[in-house]
Amino acid sequence: MSADPCSFSSFARCLTKHLNLFFHVDFARRVIRGKVELTVEALEDRFSSLTLDSRDMKIDSVRANGQAASFSMGAKHSFKGTPLEIKLPFDLSRGQHVIVEVTYETSPSATALQWLAPEQTAGKKQPYLFSQCQAHHCRSMVPCQDSPSIKFTYYAQVSVPKDLVAVMSAIRDGQEVDPKDNERIIYHFRQPVAMPSYLIAIVVGALESRVIGPRSRVWSEKEIVEKAAAEFSETEDMLQTAEQLAGPYVWGQYDILVLPPSFPYGGMENPCLTFATPTLLAGDKSLANVIAHEISHSWTGNLVTNKTWEHFWLNEGHTVYLERMIGRSMESEQFRQFKAMGGWKDLQDSVNTFGANNPVTNLVPSLEEVDPDEAYSSVPYEKGFALLYHLEELMGGPEVFMGFVKSYIQMFAYSSVTTEQWKDYLYTYFKDKVDILNKVDWNAWMFTPGMPPVKPQYDTTLANACIALCQRWIKAKDQDLDGFKESDIKALSSHQVIEFLSLLLQEDALPLTHVKKMQEVYNLDTCMNSEIRFRWLRLCVRSKWEDAVPKALQMATEQGRMKFTRPLFREVYNFEKFHDEAVRVFLGHRGELHSVTAALVAKDLKVGQNQSTGQ
Ligand code: BES
Ligand code: ZN
Repeated sequence: MSADPCSFSSFARCLTKHLNLFFHVDFARRVIRGKVELTVEALEDRFSSLTLDSRDMKIDSVRANGQAASFSMGAKHSFKGTPLEIKLPFDLSRGQHVIVEVTYETSPSATALQWLAPEQTAGKKQPYLFSQCQAHHCRSMVPCQDSPSIKFTYYAQVSVPKDLVAVMSAIRDGQEVDPKDNERIIYHFRQPVAMPSYLIAIVVGALESRVIGPRSRVWSEKEIVEKAAAEFSETEDMLQTAEQLAGPYVWGQYDILVLPPSFPYGGMENPCLTFATPTLLAGDKSLANVIAHEISHSWTGNLVTNKTWEHFWLNEGHTVYLERMIGRSMESEQFRQFKAMGGWKDLQDSVNTFGANNPVTNLVPSLEEVDPDEAYSSVPYEKGFALLYHLEELMGGPEVFMGFVKSYIQMFAYSSVTTEQWKDYLYTYFKDKVDILNKVDWNAWMFTPGMPPVKPQYDTTLANACIALCQRWIKAKDQDLDGFKESDIKALSSHQVIEFLSLLLQEDALPLTHVKKMQEVYNLDTCMNSEIRFRWLRLCVRSKWEDAVPKALQMATEQGRMKFTRPLFREVYNFEKFHDEAVRVFLGHRGELHSVTAALVAKDLKVGQNQSTGQ
């Protein structure tokens, strides 16, 4: 067993302390020509060789303190990439540092990078590049110790064509004309807070920004920047709420960058610069959840980091807990309870999708030879939240338990932790309540697949209207359909409409007559809120409404957030008559999709790697 089953890099022998990055972004060839200087500290005497992670890259040369060093590439692994083995021309003693300089070029198919043609952007004139390194993709952009157990600071200089702007997960530190090419600009960045490799992030495009708060700007293409600035206006309030809960915000700036529609996630907590999907801009109330969530990662995830991806729940479970505490402060305790209940349902859905005996539904799964992208689900988020909420109830309520979470953050800030360290600290903090903690079935919570051993009871005040309306629809006979009125959902908030549709999706498919009636009275077809539209189209397809198939496939391809795109493709695929249509549309769009999205949809639709036509 290695220290991190997802990385080939040396752990026990050395640690990276700092990176100096030099990127030359080449849109014509879709590559980054890169140089990285890694400041590496030896952890043992007679230290003279190290292994870095890399994936699909061309290594030109390696130097150590300026002297040529020999290197070789190991065997390529399907998702871990290729180990880069470096032999230093001298020995180091324990505690000494060496600067390892690697000159390289990324591949056009680097899994961390998506290169967009001008037509795929809002402005249609300039190309665009964005990265997504979490979980294990940084190694396709930078050769490094690509493990969340290792933290370093970084500086970067990025040369881009002069009509484009570069931003990174760091503090902006000026710009200048590229001395080697006056058609280009070099942007400078510095990240003075040590962070794991998966938080390195870059975007290059025709970007503009607007100030939205004392430490915040919103970045996007100019076509949507005003709208984005208006929608994210609550950011500073949320930051202050989060600071009251979790302690000072240490990253200086908190900007938000709105990406093109193919960005595969709702949000990504890149330090100083949260990445966000543009699907949040359609008057979507879930925007507040996503931003509260990404802000919360500034403490849980970015300050206190999971040691390996097996402990991912420490990142996401605590972040969902904080996100919902922000909801509690800014909305109400009832709202938090309502969201917690929705989360339990999401957990149920994930357990159903993966199967209740599937070991990846463990809170702490083994990821030996498991691709983190394939194991990704709501489980670490919602089983993690459910455990923390269960402990909150046992230990004395939200204020008491938030005291623990804040103390855990202080204790482990700037480091990476395992579940065992978390649990030891829980026992230390609640040393007077060890008897109660000992009654928790830890083995069932952490190392057993399926739903948790205890189902928390949540306040149903806000959910009752959703539950009642869902029940009316599933019990309705054809002759009852005239009883449904537009007013049924007029009184519901968009959160509640989402919950109502989620509840229906957990039931057997409604008869087609019912779904058609639902469209007639509620007119959900015209709703642009992506969380509502996504669930509504799934519901229609599941009831075999043929007219919904092209709409579902359109939504699956015009945006690429995996939370929407994967289930939409799967839903159409499971409608037998349109099985081949789903595959055909996927193959037709494969080239424009993000590589991670394309790989996962291909797996869902059982499409081979090189398959190029339907059937
Ligand atoms: N860090 C995650 C996104 C992620 C996880 C990217 C694993 C790659 C690998 C981010 O914080 C997240 O959880 N985003 C959610 C937001 C939601 C929970 C509010 C999303 O994208 O849906
Ligand atoms: Zn998250």
